[in-house]
Amino acid sequence: MTSPLLLAMPGNEVLTEEIGSALGWKVGEIEERRFPDGESYVRVPTRLDDGPVVLVCTLAQPDEKFLPLIFASATVRELGASRVGLVAPYLAYMRQDRRFNPGEAITSRLVAKLLSQSFDWMVTVDPHLHRYGSLSEIYAIPTRIIHAAPLMSDWIKRNVAQPLIIGPDSESEQWVAAVAREVGAPYSVLEKVRRGDRDVQITLKDMHPWSGRTPVLVDDIISSGRTMIEAVRLLRADNWPSPVCLAIHGIFADQSDELLAAAGARVVTANTVPHSTNQLSISRLLTFALLEMMSHP
Ligand code: R5P
Repeated sequence: MTSPLLLAMPGNEVLTEEIGSALGWKVGEIEERRFPDGESYVRVPTRLDDGPVVLVCTLAQPDEKFLPLIFASATVRELGASRVGLVAPYLAYMRQDRRFNPGEAITSRLVAKLLSQSFDWMVTVDPHLHRYGSLSEIYAIPTRIIHAAPLMSDWIKRNVAQPLIIGPDSESEQWVAAVAREVGAPYSVLEKVRRGDRDVQITLKDMHPWSGRTPVLVDDIISSGRTMIEAVRLLRADNWPSPVCLAIHGIFADQSDELLAAAGARVVTANTVPHSTNQLSISRLLTFALLEMMSHP
């Protein structure tokens, strides 16, 4: 089998180099910029040799990345790539998974359709699967999911002496229960009602049997940060020690990283979206998933 050529869309160079050196795969170049009128320019200066190509593109702030990614995929095919795979460590739009209000676009489905038309397969990390049981419900191409929960458990074991694992909402119970079991710590799941993009209401449960422990809030995504900020505020008001906010994907819209730090939280994320809080590395798990995908697509 010819080794794939890895191409990093802008901002994904570090992870791509890590994968390339771990697997001994060549890393090529891709150029992308904007014309003065805002249109995208994409060029693949690396010579392709009819082998497979893997594009690496995390999809935080997706709208600005999506069109150049589709252009890049089509271009490498025109230049001779036999197959084109996508590594999208953060998969955007998964939370819009039903019509919450009449007439809304179910964008998770639309993005899945577009990516399925452009790529032969996809590897991603913990996509937000809430109302979908699996990616195959919306993706028409083979997909592999990497689960970062073991990285979270590992980090907690090494860094927090007496943790109390807390999920900010019922959706997070899947992570929280698995992480708490692995760490050997108690857990609690809070109640959350989202009233708007930046408006969440959270209710603490009675966690006093575990007082003295360090709260570790565990979630898949920190987006506007309102979920974590509100949970941190309530915990501090209830005299808990400074919490740790542990998330896989740190999107940090609205400078929520700074707001969380100001609220007294320590924030830790995985490197699915490059950020100074990245302390969990998905590179190794990615290499396993890629090898598996290349041998049994
Ligand atoms: C809920 O659906 C997710 O698991 C996260 O709790 C949520 O996406 C976080 O969003 P935000 O940071 O905007 O509150």
